Amino acid sequence: ASCDIGLIGLAVMGQNLVLNMNDHGFKVAVFNRTVSKVDDFLADEAKGTQIVGAHSIEELVRLLKRPRRVMLMVKAGDTVDQMIDHVLPHLEAGDIIIDGGNSLFTDSNRRTKALAEKGILFIGTGVSGGEEGARFGPSIMPGGNPAAWPHVKDIFQAIAAKVDDGTPCCDWVGEDGAGHYVKMVHNGIEYGDIQLICEAYDLLKRGLGFTPDELHDIFAEWNKGELDSFLIEITAEIFAKKDEDGKPLIDKILDTAGQKGTGKWTAISALDLGQPVTLIGEAVFARCLSALKDERIEASKVLTGPSGVAAPSDRDAFIEDVRRALYCSKIISYAQGYMLLREAGKENHWNLNMGGIALMWRGGCIIRSRFLGKIKEAYDKNHALDNLLLDNFFFGVLNQYQASWRKALVHAIELGIPTPAFTTALAFYDGYRTERLPANLLQAQRDFFGAHTYERIDQPRGKFFHTNWTGRGGRVSSTTYNA
Ligand code: 6PG
Repeated sequence: ASCDIGLIGLAVMGQNLVLNMNDHGFKVAVFNRTVSKVDDFLADEAKGTQIVGAHSIEELVRLLKRPRRVMLMVKAGDTVDQMIDHVLPHLEAGDIIIDGGNSLFTDSNRRTKALAEKGILFIGTGVSGGEEGARFGPSIMPGGNPAAWPHVKDIFQAIAAKVDDGTPCCDWVGEDGAGHYVKMVHNGIEYGDIQLICEAYDLLKRGLGFTPDELHDIFAEWNKGELDSFLIEITAEIFAKKDEDGKPLIDKILDTAGQKGTGKWTAISALDLGQPVTLIGEAVFARCLSALKDERIEASKVLTGPSGVAAPSDRDAFIEDVRRALYCSKIISYAQGYMLLREAGKENHWNLNMGGIALMWRGGCIIRSRFLGKIKEAYDKNHALDNLLLDNFFFGVLNQYQASWRKALVHAIELGIPTPAFTTALAFYDGYRTERLPANLLQAQRDFFGAHTYERIDQPRGKFFHTNWTGRGGRVSSTTYNA
């Protein structure tokens, strides 16, 4: 038994993680359900490395040092449970199972508990960064049984991406499914960032008629400043890519988006926890709307948009307004994502390290950006920060840029270009900063038709009143049950 870790699942992420671990001096044993893939991998990508192949799970486990570390890189869902069942009989108390797929956090909650009862330490970890990240430095977000962390820390932090000062983009996230929860929110934010970039693209393309080459220049320029991030960088590259006929590839790609579910899970969790994570919600729905291509083709024939609206007159000013709108909306999206994390931490009794999460996302992952350094700084300044929007850096930007943000959206609305993520961000901003919202009327209506009761501004909070609005209703009010 000489191997440091065993990995099951040699799809692209699994293979690349194994090669990454090997580069960092760890001896890895590998197994794959379709066993021929093990031999192919050893003969090909893993040739000349110290990676060891196993042709059964039993053999894989026999190759491992104690406590044994078995990492699963298989499809999320039932496959993970099946694999755990196959591995379990060969393990002993104190051994560690790591699930590195995009698993639903409630599954990881369940697995942590069920395996702890058997003496096995479970880790559910987010791994972000796609193929490149897995190979050369992903962001790794581990949660689960805290007793397992000291046994995997060295491997994980060695293979993780590093920020400028060498700090790894990997730290312990929290108990049970906390790692997968944080990865889920990462993916939700990824959906939001992608949607914001798509809306900026649409505004520039349809609002001012920019070509892909011009868009390449605009995004490349944006990537040098506040918006510096992986997603802006690849967007610039995408605009420059030509198809075989020399024409821009972007113009030939069908406009129907796919999704595998992590964005939807984030929105569902936000609804469950009562947190207004509106931008990610809109990003998920925008993908759904895009998928209704046939219906949209039909609708485009009968539903008209505005006519006779002039394009923005000052091109450079409009580009800058859109850039600022994107930056402000991004701040709102991250503030919302962090609100969700804060609430999930409370609800699940996870002691989430908010600044640490920003650091884990600072490099390696899909949402990596200069901006995440600012979030880390905000939490370094104030560990108990209630909301990112209350940090002086972030409210400073919003105060300074909001006029541009509003101007960009006035154009969008006048031109009939849909900007659901930009507009929901602004609506959230205007709602969050409003001391008195119209929910007084809402409460009056609920009390009017259903005797749902209301609180009064001149009475202590938590004291509920019912009015017999019409003189016809009785004096009995409904309970103050809240969903
Ligand atoms: C990552 C990515 C990766 C994947 C997501 C989103 O962090 O490396 O988030 O996990 O891109 O699952 O996929 P969909 O857009 O298909 O839902």
